[in-house]
Amino acid sequence: METYGLHQYPGKLFVVEGVDGSGKSTQIALLRQWLVSEGYTVFFSEWNSSPLVKKTTRRGKKKQMLTPTTFSLIHATDFADRTEHDIIPPLKAGAIVLADRYIYTAFARDVARNVDRQWVRELYQFAVQPTRAFYFRVPLDISLGRILSNRSELKYYEAGMDLELHSNPRESFGLFQKRIVAEYEKMIAEYNLTVMDATLPIPEQQRMMRQLVAPHLEGIRRFRQLIPGTELEHIAHRADIVHSTSHSQ
Ligand SMILES: Nc1ncnc2c1ncn2[C@@H]1O[C@H](COP(=O)(O)OP(=O)(O)O)[C@@H](O)[C@H]1O
Ligand SMILES: [Mg+2]
Repeated sequence: METYGLHQYPGKLFVVEGVDGSGKSTQIALLRQWLVSEGYTVFFSEWNSSPLVKKTTRRGKKKQMLTPTTFSLIHATDFADRTEHDIIPPLKAGAIVLADRYIYTAFARDVARNVDRQWVRELYQFAVQPTRAFYFRVPLDISLGRILSNRSELKYYEAGMDLELHSNPRESFGLFQKRIVAEYEKMIAEYNLTVMDATLPIPEQQRMMRQLVAPHLEGIRRFRQLIPGTELEHIAHRADIVHSTSHSQ
C-alpha cells in the first residue's frame, strides 16, 4: 500500500472530522447531494464500516474485552480494508470520495484512550492524504446538547467507560469528549485541517464547504462526460444507483 503522502490519483478525497454532534454527517450528506446533482461520481466511506471486522468488534464490545491497543488495531484494520476497497479504486478512476471520519478520528480517540501518539500515527502511515480535511469545531456543551437531548442511553465504549473516568456514563462521555477535543485541536496545525465553525447554521456551513471544495473540482469528469463502456462509467453507474438524490438547495 501507499505511504501517507499527497496521492497522485486523479480523484479527490474530502473528509469530515469532529466530535459526535458537531454536524459532520449532516454536512457531508449535503455535500454529497450537491456533487451528485452537479453530475460528479461520488463515493462515500464511513468510519468503522468494513464488513471484515464487524463481527469481531461487536463481540469485543459486547464482552467489554477490548483494550485501547486492541481497539486501535481493529479500527486500523477496518480502515486498511476500506482504503483498499472503497477509497483507492475510485480515486484511481478519477471519482470523488467522501469520508465521514478519517485517520484523525483514530488519532484523537486512541490518544484519548492513552495510546501512544506516535505509535498510532505510524499505524496509519498507509493512508491516502485527503485533498481537504474539514474539522467541525464546536463547544462541548453544544455538541453534547445536540446528541444527548434525544439519546436515552450511551454505549460503554462510546461513553469512554473503559477509561474509568467517571461511573456515570453521561459524565464519562463528557470527560472523554473533552480529551478528544484536545487532540483534535493539536492536529489542526499538524495536518492542516480546515476549521469550520460548527455552531453556524447548517446552510451557512454548507455554503462555505462548497466554496472550499469547488476549486478542487476543476478537471474532474462529470457523469455526462463519461465515455460509455469505460471503467469509470461502470463505477459511475454503480455510484449513481446508491447516491441518486434530488437536487439540493
Ligand atoms: N449547525 C447545526 N446547528 C444545529 N443543529 C445541528 C447543526 N448541524 C447538525 N445539527 C444537528 O445535530 C445533530 C447531530 O448532527 P450530525 O450531523 O449527526 O453530527 P455528527 O455526524 O458530527 O455526530 C443532528 O440532530 C443534526 O440535525
Ligand atoms: Mg455522524
